Amino acid sequence: MTPHDDPLSCRLVDGGPCAEDQVLDSLRPLRLADYVGQEEAKANLSVFIAAARQRGEALDHVLLHGHPGLGKTTLAHILAAELGVGITATSGPVLERPGDLAAILTNLQPRDVLFVDEIHRLNHVVEEVLYPAMEDFHLDLIIGQGPSARTVKLDLAPFTLVGATTRAGLITPPLRDRFGVQVRVDFYTPQELALIVNRSARILGLDMDPEGALEIARRSRATPRIANRLLKRVRDFAQVEADGRVSRELADYALGRLGVDNSGLDRLDRELLSTIIQKFDGGPVGLSNLSAAVGEEAQTLEEVYEPYLIQQGFLKRTPQGRVATARAYEHLGLKPSRGAQDRLF
Ligand SMILES: Nc1ncnc2c1ncn2[C@@H]1O[C@H](COP(=O)(O)OP(=O)(O)OP(=O)(O)O)[C@@H](O)[C@H]1O
Ligand SMILES: [Mg+2]
Repeated sequence: MTPHDDPLSCRLVDGGPCAEDQVLDSLRPLRLADYVGQEEAKANLSVFIAAARQRGEALDHVLLHGHPGLGKTTLAHILAAELGVGITATSGPVLERPGDLAAILTNLQPRDVLFVDEIHRLNHVVEEVLYPAMEDFHLDLIIGQGPSARTVKLDLAPFTLVGATTRAGLITPPLRDRFGVQVRVDFYTPQELALIVNRSARILGLDMDPEGALEIARRSRATPRIANRLLKRVRDFAQVEADGRVSRELADYALGRLGVDNSGLDRLDRELLSTIIQKFDGGPVGLSNLSAAVGEEAQTLEEVYEPYLIQQGFLKRTPQGRVATARAYEHLGLKPSRGAQDRLF
């Protein structure tokens, strides 16, 4: 089977098998119709896909941005499947030299998708080689060194670059401007996540009440990857400590055992908030101080933990640093000091 007729196909640059979490994940939807939520983006993308197919052209380049686990990689693979083309997956930090990128680009079939994950981590030399490739489908490569160096121009087959990033702000404007389609992948509602959990339960052959699915959905930080992960763990509790069926009560019990509270916060979320409150009097506290105090990398705090806490109104980012909100005090059952109270109210 060629990559062009197998929606599951994926060629990694090293020629090895695709990582489990990239494609073999059985819970990953393969078509746009099974991709839950993001309705506006889906509706627009299906128009762009149909138009490109009708014209027999490559789809314009697509930039997907959004917090971790919201479905960017999944969407990239779906785009290739819906376009009926192959996909080659790589990532920003893997493309160290222009030659690495050239080798991949010259091996693409016409209209193929090149998926570059973490595209904000491309180095600038590689990025500059990408500009003409994206714009006019050609490469300007410098061969040799010193006085004998010369530039060769290589024509490429038209292709679609799909870039994914959790840090849209770190993408340089010239690169960003070359993406004709830009999609922001948002947090999911509990109802959307419940659809995902129900679908995953069906695939796993799991007996689940709708209320059980909604309970997991409500407590999954608005993120499909977390919903699927919690579902798998809840399944373990259902199997070993109950009769295998996931009811609301069983889901509640299992999530409690996993340290996921009623608002979906886990131990580190609570530790983060209680550290700001107890060690820094509610803030403001700088990210590096906070990172040292909770023993977690600053980047992980910023990209993985904070977005949901901010979205839910437990935390604020201010120019002076991170601040715990009144909701954070309430959630943890802590009383603000006099000073903190003045800042809060
Ligand atoms: N819209 C969706 N509908 C159904 N399942 C989804 C959806 N989005 C994501 N998922 C599920 O969540 C998992 C995580 O999604 P994915 O790996 O695409 O996220 P990502 O945005 O690429 O994350 P990262 O930024 O960490 O690379 C997938 O394996 C898939 O099972
Ligand atoms: Mg991804």
